[in-house]
Amino acid sequence: MESIKVGLLGLGVVGGGTWSVLQRNAEEISRRAGRQIEIVHVAVRDVAKARARVGDAVSITNDPTEVVSNPQVDIVVELIGGTTLARELVLAAIGQGKHVVTANKALLATHGTEIFEAASAKGVMVAFEAAVAGGIPIIKAIREGLTANRIEWIAGIINGTTNYILTEMRNRSISFEQALSQAQQLGYAEADPTSDVEGFDAAQKLTLLASMAFGIPVQLSRAYVEGITHVDDQDISIAERLGFRIKLLGITRRRPEGIELRVHPTLVPANSMLANVEDAMNAVLVNGDAVGQTLYYGKGAGEEPTASAVVADLVDVTRLHTADPEHRVPHLAFQPESMVDIPV
Ligand code: NDP
Ligand code: HSE
Repeated sequence: MESIKVGLLGLGVVGGGTWSVLQRNAEEISRRAGRQIEIVHVAVRDVAKARARVGDAVSITNDPTEVVSNPQVDIVVELIGGTTLARELVLAAIGQGKHVVTANKALLATHGTEIFEAASAKGVMVAFEAAVAGGIPIIKAIREGLTANRIEWIAGIINGTTNYILTEMRNRSISFEQALSQAQQLGYAEADPTSDVEGFDAAQKLTLLASMAFGIPVQLSRAYVEGITHVDDQDISIAERLGFRIKLLGITRRRPEGIELRVHPTLVPANSMLANVEDAMNAVLVNGDAVGQTLYYGKGAGEEPTASAVVADLVDVTRLHTADPEHRVPHLAFQPESMVDIPV
């Protein structure tokens, strides 16, 4: 069968990892997808740098609209980041009947409802496993593995930067500022770390998890969000003496009034599983009525862990694209559920 053709927008941390994983594991990936997955067109800002990485076999441009409108391209992978250009490119790809894979939680948490509606109208898929908890297949777990369950609640450490900072503050008694600087040097933090330390990155991911778990539209503005910038060494040592650790948790659960969404520093018993998730690792607990509690743990960021999720989506989309369109499974199906506003 002919290969499926991919247009890659961005060849940075995640785009570069996606390229490498697809090259290295090409044979297994083709076998699992049922056909070869071939990147045919790449968009970046610095074409020379990208050329040095991918060689001459692939077209490279600094105009991402060329990739989106390339008639050869079946799937557009958006790894540019941001919410303005990325939104235009993703909507343009959908408008041209192309499937989209993205790791962009900010984009989906802000414009997800518009994007998913457009995709549904066009009968194309928007896959976003990499947008939540990097390499952990949490979207697939909720969408497929736990599909028999009524999900009751989800609680997780879904931002690696803040978990790293809190771990370093506790284990090495260093200040918030010192720990943040280390997190930036290690490449965990976003280009602007405000989104990490103020809890917005975790809130974006939590909003997407809640959409999947409860079938609600993406409603970032309804989340209560508090970051870790006010947590100091005294808070950490008092928590320790009382038998707790401080973790930035994202929590979403059903309440009689509707669905609750909250991100804030939380006292977690020191002997619990979440308390022992250290460094930049992520962990998500999901409670379903049939299965009870399940735990998903792994790397929530970084080149190849995130690429692992992007490529898994590419395989999924390739299989579904190849199937009879009438039997394609939608990636999201919303039912309107009411939401709870958390008093500040
Ligand atoms: P990078 O900054 O490393 O890479 C961005 C890429 O996009 C670069 O290749 C850049 O080109 C290209 N690019 C940016 N703007 C344009 C433009 N206007 N035209 C053409 N190309 C452009 O970002 P990341 O790989 O870290 O992140 C990508 C996405 O993945 C983001 O949405 C992020 O939130 C998400 N994500 C990232 C994770 C991580 O661990 N880094 C984890 C999970 C999700 P050039 O190389 O020439 O500069
Ligand atoms: N800055 C994010 C984090 C990257 O620290 O978790 C992965 O989304």
